[in-house]
Amino acid sequence: MEFSPSPIMKSVPSAQDSKVSHDCVFEAKSLQKEFDEGRVKALRGISFQIHSGEFVAIIGTSGSGKTTLLQLLGSLDKPSSGSLLYRGRLMTEMPDTSTYRAREIGFIFQSFHLLPTFTALENVQIPMFESDIPKAERESRAIHLLQSVGLENRRHHFPAQLSGGERQRVAIARSLANGPTVLLADEPTGNLDSENTANILELIIRLQREKNMTLVLVTHDLNIARMASRTIQMKDGHIVNDEPRMPISE
Ligand SMILES: Nc1ncnc2c1ncn2[C@@H]1O[C@H](COP(=O)(O)OP(=O)(O)OP(=O)(O)O)[C@@H](O)[C@H]1O
Ligand SMILES: [Mg+2]
Repeated sequence: MEFSPSPIMKSVPSAQDSKVSHDCVFEAKSLQKEFDEGRVKALRGISFQIHSGEFVAIIGTSGSGKTTLLQLLGSLDKPSSGSLLYRGRLMTEMPDTSTYRAREIGFIFQSFHLLPTFTALENVQIPMFESDIPKAERESRAIHLLQSVGLENRRHHFPAQLSGGERQRVAIARSLANGPTVLLADEPTGNLDSENTANILELIIRLQREKNMTLVLVTHDLNIARMASRTIQMKDGHIVNDEPRMPISE
């Protein structure tokens, strides 16, 4: 089956407005994911395209398959059937998915996943450890990233010495360490209070625009989903709605 961007999507300005290109970043065709030898059907044949520069919010009830989908996009797991392409290449045929994850994708998780024995500065450098970037350059890049999230003064603090919002800022800086083109965020504000939620979200969206990244963000929060250029709603492993922007209820 041929897939083309929906006419609605084409007409909606995305994060980068006029700069946006409609290059296809992800294309899923009849994507399925089963667990427990098929007893659990987490994704039941979903199809979509995500284009460069889009900010896509994925919403849906608990267990509807949101995290599963994000993990397939990030190549943290493989589909059971169907196909998933990244910039026109089948992800199952990528020679080295760890390089794809390291170079192309920035991950932001609800629970931050910082290493407790590493300082903020060291945590930000983790994705760079596998590359051959010299130590001094690694550090200066990490300092710059901490500056971009407003945390340069906390660089020698350990995660336990940081607030929840600050921890997520460190995790955001870490997600940007290798200059990804795609940000995958799974309920990034799920552990934060409302003030931090607003600040972290503003930060993610600002960085997405500045760095011209594609953002796929899973959230339960409809106020957050309304900030996206497009909302995909999932239910029981299906996409039940795919809209350019959530209508704002009066
Ligand atoms: N590793 C696994 N093994 C078995 N079942 C799994 C596994 N991962 C997810 N599932 C099941 O797949 C379904 C989809 O899970 P998923 O984590 O994608 O949901 P979700 O939409 O992210 O939910 P939540 O909003 O609660 O985070 C659920 O029924 C879940 O129990
Ligand atoms: Mg989830």
